[in-house]
Amino acid sequence: MDKRFHLETIAITAGRPTPIADGPVNPPISLNSTLHAGGPIGYGRYGNETWTALEDAIGSLEGGRTLVFSSGMAAISAVFSLLPVGSVVTTSHQGYSGTMTLLNSLHQSGRIEVRFVDLANTQEVISALPGTSLLWLESPTNPCLDIADLPTLISAAKQMGCGVAVDNTFATPMVQKPLSFGADMVMHSVTKYLAGHSDVVLGSISTNDDALFSRISDSRKLNGAIPGPFEAWLALRGLRTFALRFDRAQSSAGELARRLSMHHKITKVYYPGLQTDSNHERAMNFMSGYGAVVSFTIIGGAVEADRVCEAAELITNATSLGGVESLWERRRRWALESASVPESLIRLSVGCENVEDLWADIESALQHA
Ligand SMILES: Cc1ncc(COP(=O)(O)O)c(C=O)c1O
Repeated sequence: MDKRFHLETIAITAGRPTPIADGPVNPPISLNSTLHAGGPIGYGRYGNETWTALEDAIGSLEGGRTLVFSSGMAAISAVFSLLPVGSVVTTSHQGYSGTMTLLNSLHQSGRIEVRFVDLANTQEVISALPGTSLLWLESPTNPCLDIADLPTLISAAKQMGCGVAVDNTFATPMVQKPLSFGADMVMHSVTKYLAGHSDVVLGSISTNDDALFSRISDSRKLNGAIPGPFEAWLALRGLRTFALRFDRAQSSAGELARRLSMHHKITKVYYPGLQTDSNHERAMNFMSGYGAVVSFTIIGGAVEADRVCEAAELITNATSLGGVESLWERRRRWALESASVPESLIRLSVGCENVEDLWADIESALQHA
């Protein structure tokens, strides 16, 4: 992809077929389990031209070669599957519940040793690095929106010879590009902002290290966590409007976070864009935005928070994030969510609706619940 282009342009232009007269403008949905012999791919589990188009586009946005997977968790599992038995992984003690549960089970089974740290405490993370094989950074974290000082931590880890992988699902390349800070891998739940319409489950890993790329590609081939061509095509279609969607959602999130922080029924707002947020300064130093997820706690507990989520008319009471439609949920309704997340914490994924309509819905849900 042409380096002159901005990210908004790349999202629209990358992953297109080579222009030829009467050739298609968009890649086809390649529904083939096998291919004519003699080529570099050979079989439907090894490669697919629709995946390649999506991989080219995500790779151009993140600045690395990319592999897409059947889900974000499949991509995460592929990364951990590369680690030799007994390797040490250092990671936050708070993050996406699926990743945390997987890491806990790998730790408990003795497959790997996991060191859990407070990722917002840069010195604590650096102190845990000696002997670490992989530093896994999710930033901002799901759902408490803690921010890791990516440039400092990645540089410290590289100096000590540790691998670094960053889950960039919440921030997206609009806000930060971990490969440009020296990370080895950047991972996405493509399900969220990149695809953006709550209609596919997909994941990706991008890297600039060719040897690592081959190992991840082999892992995908052999573990078989491949995406469907239709899902890949849908994600690429969604990606065309990624920058527009994210821009809108992020600006509404900032405004809603500000108003929530002044609401009498709210006890705490978690949003790194707020000057009062403990992560604000760290975030401001290297991020170009603060994302479109806002979490908050309300007066009361689980029952009151559930009532708020159910009382909304516009915002959907559902899990997930990153779609055009706003979603919210009480995170602790999930058994897997960490007990360190407050019972009344509601995670709001701000979509692309009119911000005043969203605020009216939030105010009325808070009032009626
Ligand atoms: C930060 C983060 N990483 C990874 C995942 C897992 O992605 P998927 O649901 O696509 O498997 C999620 C899902 O919510 C997530 O929020």
